[in-house]
Amino acid sequence: MIVTIDGPAGAGKSTVARRLASQLGYVFLDTGAMYRAVTYAALQAKIVMEDAAARLALVRGTSIELKGAVVSVNGEDVSEPIRTAEVTASIHYMADDPAVRELLVLRQREWAVGRNVVTEGRDQGTVVFPDAECKIFLTASAGERARRRQAERESEGETVSIDKIRAAQDLRDERDRSRTVGPLQKAADAIEVVTDGMMIDDVIASLEALVHKK
Ligand code: C5P
Repeated sequence: MIVTIDGPAGAGKSTVARRLASQLGYVFLDTGAMYRAVTYAALQAKIVMEDAAARLALVRGTSIELKGAVVSVNGEDVSEPIRTAEVTASIHYMADDPAVRELLVLRQREWAVGRNVVTEGRDQGTVVFPDAECKIFLTASAGERARRRQAERESEGETVSIDKIRAAQDLRDERDRSRTVGPLQKAADAIEVVTDGMMIDDVIASLEALVHKK
């Protein structure tokens, strides 16, 4: 069975998808980590990010391995460096590129063959797994998502203004929604779950109930 969870940045998709997968005994596919991994590899290789041919060659030559929470690129553990602000700021070069998306979509489908999967991203229910048995669109208001992100950064010892977080989040939302291929969009048959004011355990419990119902 395939469970897709799509939604905007900061909706808590990764945490929820990872825990839901573990509770169901499914494997978790973090597709954002794939876009992060190729962006990180491109920055390391110092390719010209605006060069479409260079981007495609880089992605073709980059092997990505996802095992539990560990993300490896060409055999190197990059789980932490793919989460930096520098990588996040450059992801759009890869995520907006239809040829790159086509390659990564194929890898995502291959990864899921013969497995029970909870997959998380922007286009999982619409493009990658249109026939998935259970589709969820996980979201929260922009203010709530920004507040959660700020609390997370504070727990890591960082002080960042809410306005700065909100501006970066709005920019990512806009880019994710407006790309021509694989935009952030709720699939027609997805169930929307709005998590404002909900505790994470309650979100997971409600999603688990939805999966069992399906
Ligand atoms: O989910 P995460 O924040 O790690 O994703 C990083 C970026 O990768 C997103 O902002 C989005 O632009 C891109 N992405 C995508 N398609 C996916 C998953 C992520 O375009 N399926």
